[in-house]
Amino acid sequence: MSFSDARQTWDARYSREDFLFGTEPNAFLSAQAHRLEPGSRALCVADGEGRNSVWLAGLGLEVDAFDISPVAVAKARALASQQRVSVRHAIADILHLEWPDARYDVIAAIFIQFASPDERAAIFAGFVQSLRPGGVLLLQGYRPEQLAYRTGGPPFAENMYSEPLLREAFAALDIHHLHSHDDIVCEGEGHNGMSALIDLVAVKPRRVTEGYR
Ligand SMILES: C[S@@+](CC[C@H](N)C(=O)[O-])C[C@H]1O[C@@H](n2cnc3c(N)ncnc32)[C@H](O)[C@@H]1O
Repeated sequence: MSFSDARQTWDARYSREDFLFGTEPNAFLSAQAHRLEPGSRALCVADGEGRNSVWLAGLGLEVDAFDISPVAVAKARALASQQRVSVRHAIADILHLEWPDARYDVIAAIFIQFASPDERAAIFAGFVQSLRPGGVLLLQGYRPEQLAYRTGGPPFAENMYSEPLLREAFAALDIHHLHSHDDIVCEGEGHNGMSALIDLVAVKPRRVTEGYR
């Protein structure tokens, strides 16, 4: 999908009074609170209306977030202001991002399955590049079985994740948690009902200390 098609599609979905995915953080992300330290630097990619970035900022993290939809970003800024937290929200296309080197302690990627396999490979490589050594990737998405549930996500099996796919894509990271499960998701109208989920927590290794010289 072109930049302007994606923007128009998502702008139309977000042009509503309420929040399409609710204002509470994603349940998998909030269950990872013990891994998140105040003052650390987080990036929320394709952050939508800001439920996840605002929650992270409320924990005291320094948060950058972006989405392709100006309507979503305006709602995310309003949510941050209403909850009196500061987030650097931007409008950006993840497919044309200059991924910074080793900048983030946390990257949150929650339901970003708009990406085709080729796009996904570039995005996942960007995550690895932008994590600091010791930084953590928190990712939740759908498995192919989600197509039968029809409770969220695009109708493209090739955009879904499996455990082997994520293990291979993130071979450069230490996988701390990789879990496939079916559960009820209640995250606004957008994600609602029994869902085929997959959760990943992966940490960028710290450089191995070289021996004494
Ligand atoms: C299913 S929503 C998830 C939003 C958010 N992560 C959440 O959990 O509430 C997918 C998001 O991806 C965004 N998106 C789609 N294509 C994008 C792109 N090329 N670059 C950045 N964001 C994009 C959409 O605008 C939408 O907000």
